[in-house]
Amino acid sequence: MASFQKATRASVSMKRFISFQQPSTRSVATRATSYTLNTGAKIPALGFGTFQDPDSQEDTVSRALQKGMRLIDTARVYNVEEQVGRGIKKSGVPREDIFVGTKLWCNDYHPEDVERALDDSLRDLDTPYVDLMLMHYPCTFQRGPDRFPRNAEGRMIAGETTYLETWKAMEKLTRTGKVKAIGVSNFSKGEVETLLRGSSTVPAVHQMEVHPYLQQKGFNQWLKTKGIHTVQFSPLGNMNDFYRQTGWSKDISHMMRVIDQPILKEIGEKYGKTPVQVVLAWGINSGRSVIPKSIVDWQIEQNLEADFELQPEDMAQIATLDAKARFNDPSLDYEWRLYSDLEGIEGTVRGLTH
Ligand SMILES: NC(=O)c1ccc[n+]([C@@H]2O[C@H](COP(=O)([O-])OP(=O)(O)OC[C@H]3O[C@@H](n4cnc5c(N)ncnc54)[C@H](OP(=O)(O)O)[C@@H]3O)[C@@H](O)[C@H]2O)c1
Repeated sequence: MASFQKATRASVSMKRFISFQQPSTRSVATRATSYTLNTGAKIPALGFGTFQDPDSQEDTVSRALQKGMRLIDTARVYNVEEQVGRGIKKSGVPREDIFVGTKLWCNDYHPEDVERALDDSLRDLDTPYVDLMLMHYPCTFQRGPDRFPRNAEGRMIAGETTYLETWKAMEKLTRTGKVKAIGVSNFSKGEVETLLRGSSTVPAVHQMEVHPYLQQKGFNQWLKTKGIHTVQFSPLGNMNDFYRQTGWSKDISHMMRVIDQPILKEIGEKYGKTPVQVVLAWGINSGRSVIPKSIVDWQIEQNLEADFELQPEDMAQIATLDAKARFNDPSLDYEWRLYSDLEGIEGTVRGLTH
């Protein structure tokens, strides 16, 4: 089971915080929390997303690592693995000090394709191993070079194998040393149960959409009981314009931005922190990792200062924001009812991904 470990970041962070502190605020230390996965490996609580802005990723990854980020999340389908690999090298931070995770894409789910796909990622990332490999979604697309294989009507063509067969192929890879841990992303509870019943490896991680508008309390608790660590993607909720552009969640994507909720500003003022930092701290204080994406230096620095202790009354206030609003739902485009037994699947609309 993932366990909780805290350490105080170098005193330089504390000094930086103190210099910004308002007289009425609580004195809080910035921590460097990490968790222990069910493999025994450590994963940082605070990480760095790399979806979008490929031209900026090399420099941004490098700078984020130099500033102190130690968890990098990427994926084959983001088309940024080469840039991420160059960024890691450029940073000068030793590879063994960085937790690097990537994701297998759905056109490479045939068991005979899985190891080759991992090798492609390792080549582009220019690393002999990844710390984590996730199945990006439970849906299987037709095997072949086309990442989004569509028929004449533009509908996605499904693959012929199941995600359980893909999982068993990933299990074998853990014995090669090329991948230290395996996990899933965007699975329903039932789909995770299928893996637990049908294989001998419990996923180390489930990466899924979690933020104050979509807290998934029951599912998160259940994952914990199974020893599966949650990594929150889109931890800031509807900050990413991508959700408005795809139209996957047409109505709710126009809700007030999570970070504009007045209660977050009020809580932040008590600690001398911004709403973004409060949202990230909420995830970490819940025992999860968060992987905000940013290409802007001051934002990355702000995100790095988001690991601090929130008082129980503030956690309780944030709990009231749970609107069960899911922004990432490509079910209709992928021809697969995703998240079928989870919260926040009403109102999904067909929005083309690519
Ligand atoms: N497994 C999956 O299916 C899946 C799905 C979605 C995302 N992910 C992963 O999760 C990562 C994060 O998700 P996301 O990019 O959707 O959402 P996010 O990290 O919640 O939001 C990103 C947006 O927030 C802005 N931002 C970041 N830090 C900020 C700060 N301190 N102040 C103000 N604005 C800030 C960014 O601005 P700028 O870009 O301008 O810097 C960007 O527009 C992705 O990069 C990816 O690695 C995984």
